[in-house]
Amino acid sequence: MKSLEEQAGDKLARDSKLLSVFDYEEAAKLSLSEEVRNYIYRGTESESTLRRNEEAFSRYLLRRRVLHGIVSVKTEASYFDGRIRSEIPFFPSSINVSPLYPNALLDILRLSKKYYFPIFVSHLALGPSLEIPKLPSLVPQDFPLLWQIYFETNNKDRILKDVSRAKEWGYKGITITVDTEQNVKLGYEVPKQLMSESFLAVTPKEIREVRERTSLPLIVKGLMTPEDSELAVESGADGVVVSNHGGRTLDEGEATIEALPKIAKHLKGKRATRRTEIFVDGGIRKGTSILKALALGARGCLIGRPIFWGLAVNRAEGASNVIQILRSELTRAAILCGVKDTSRVSGKILVKC
Ligand SMILES: Cc1cc2nc3c(=O)[nH]c(=O)nc-3n(C[C@H](O)[C@H](O)[C@H](O)COP(=O)(O)O)c2cc1C
Repeated sequence: MKSLEEQAGDKLARDSKLLSVFDYEEAAKLSLSEEVRNYIYRGTESESTLRRNEEAFSRYLLRRRVLHGIVSVKTEASYFDGRIRSEIPFFPSSINVSPLYPNALLDILRLSKKYYFPIFVSHLALGPSLEIPKLPSLVPQDFPLLWQIYFETNNKDRILKDVSRAKEWGYKGITITVDTEQNVKLGYEVPKQLMSESFLAVTPKEIREVRERTSLPLIVKGLMTPEDSELAVESGADGVVVSNHGGRTLDEGEATIEALPKIAKHLKGKRATRRTEIFVDGGIRKGTSILKALALGARGCLIGRPIFWGLAVNRAEGASNVIQILRSELTRAAILCGVKDTSRVSGKILVKC
């Protein structure tokens, strides 16, 4: 049996050989049980949506620019009139990391010591010692911590009560995930205790009920069409996440990067919705994909599975490395495309093929 120091040394050696998110994807498989691996890696039914999320990025190519003299890139982002800020235009998505190891959520929160970016606390990742009112005290003061709500059949009253106190507890925003009315379905054996079976079918009523109880920025996550996005904003959302839950709900669905430009065009084209903050997630594994999403109308990208892979390989340090890899790929791609500020990326950097 290796000592703790030796195990830490092994992890470090392995980490330093992992140069891309794909390296983390492979390495993480080695340290997970089959059940947890299926829970994280798999998608619904034929997994066509899961694959498409990633593959669809290749339908857009980046235009290489030279002679512009850009040597560094501004990556800061500001959302909701400066109420939420970030040092980079991407951040961990709301993910239930609790099946990975006890209190894995703490390692997500530890990222706040290294990065200043929004962290979405998944409602499902909470535990007896990790309760919603206490979490803001675990991150630096004024850190952009957001609470991601799942309405379940038996928790609505309690959630609504807590929403009205979220600001006083220190949260900077609320997210409602609305795309699990049929529950996540994976085509592989995943133990029941890893999957909630009691999600509520969220309607505009629930969005309005949350809106009435908080002045915090409100983000609705799980939108894939212009009409649903507009309805979410009409019901009180300040921001939307274009998301198909990482290909875990509807099979044979559109990729998020395909839905994004249509949603962005629709929301930006109307006076009532044009100030909506648009985020996207699904299949983002490279810095170039983040740049493409920004060019197609997103103001920020959320990262799901790659954060799991980082945590599985080397806990908070692994997740931090994943972010570092994406950050350096993004900056390099931006320079090579003549982008000096990632908050102002135009569609002109892309060609569709
Ligand atoms: C294992 C796993 C757990 C997830 N848990 C949540 C969750 O608790 N809340 C939520 O809103 N979305 C959850 N998601 C969806 C992610 O927030 C995100 O939409 C998706 O993972 C993005 O796709 P990607 O994994 O390809 O980056 C989960 C996704 C995975 C893979």
